[in-house]
Amino acid sequence: MLDVRGLTLSVTDPDTGHETEILRGNSFSLGQGEALGLVGESGSGKSMTLKCLLGIEPSGARVGGSIDFAGTDLLRAGGEKLRRIRANELALIAQNPHGALNPVLHVERFLIEGMADARGLPKAEAKARAAGLLQQVGITDTDRVLRSYPHQLSGGMLQRVVIAGAISGEPRLLLADEPTTALDVTTQAEVVAILDEKRREHGLSMIFVTHDLDLAAAVCDRLAVMKDGAILEIGTPEEIRDRPKTEYTRALMAARPLLHPEPREPVMNDGTGARA
Ligand SMILES: Nc1ncnc2c1ncn2[C@@H]1O[C@H](COP(=O)(O)OP(=O)(O)OP(=O)(O)O)[C@@H](O)[C@H]1O
Ligand SMILES: [Mg+2]
Repeated sequence: MLDVRGLTLSVTDPDTGHETEILRGNSFSLGQGEALGLVGESGSGKSMTLKCLLGIEPSGARVGGSIDFAGTDLLRAGGEKLRRIRANELALIAQNPHGALNPVLHVERFLIEGMADARGLPKAEAKARAAGLLQQVGITDTDRVLRSYPHQLSGGMLQRVVIAGAISGEPRLLLADEPTTALDVTTQAEVVAILDEKRREHGLSMIFVTHDLDLAAAVCDRLAVMKDGAILEIGTPEEIRDRPKTEYTRALMAARPLLHPEPREPVMNDGTGARA
């Protein structure tokens, strides 16, 4: 459903005229229902890759290559067709849920505005649908949450609302840019589980951006390792873990904190200093 070929992005400094290459001809593809993880250090170009898909790259940036989404090249299509794809088929879940919601709208309005066919829907029905969306992301006290403003909800609760909003438009591709980085570890796990469940239920494809290799491996079918604007390698989590192709991936694997260190062989001390 998505086929990205030779994606480049460069920006020119308006003062010096100096050109910086931010993405260096990256290619990757994504099947229906598949999840691809983009992992790599800060500044490696993960968010910029998503921005190119959404057409929200920095003004003045030049984008090259091709982005084929279900038969349409997003870099060459224009007008209404492009607008419709970006509005209806793609949904972004960003790192900070507070930034995703209008602070002066309560959750009910946010969810109703996101629905694909909200216009013309009787008020009571729209509200019932909004409550249904919240239930889908594990929120039980829907009346209270629907009436709340973003600042009245915790970060984890709000990120659930954002996910509910993202699936309400019935997109085909979710773009999740560090969707849980702003949350504490327990909430992080809950939100990831909900995202994963909704994705599978609706058969959505997803690009999942994270610093966290273990998280990406748990959520994604394949991982793309990025460094300095280039994709170094793409493989299944097992391939990346067991047979990394580059020194950088090896270093990234070695640098990750181990939550469950492998148990060491017990050392039998028989007084000779030799191991049993
Ligand atoms: N508006 C901009 N104009 C020019 N360069 C930018 C702009 N925004 C980001 N960059 C540069 O583009 C490169 C890639 O940035 P990007 O935000 O994609 O990194 P990232 O991998 O998402 O990092 P992080 O993990 O910190 O979010 C960086 O070198 C960054 O400095
Ligand atoms: Mg980023």
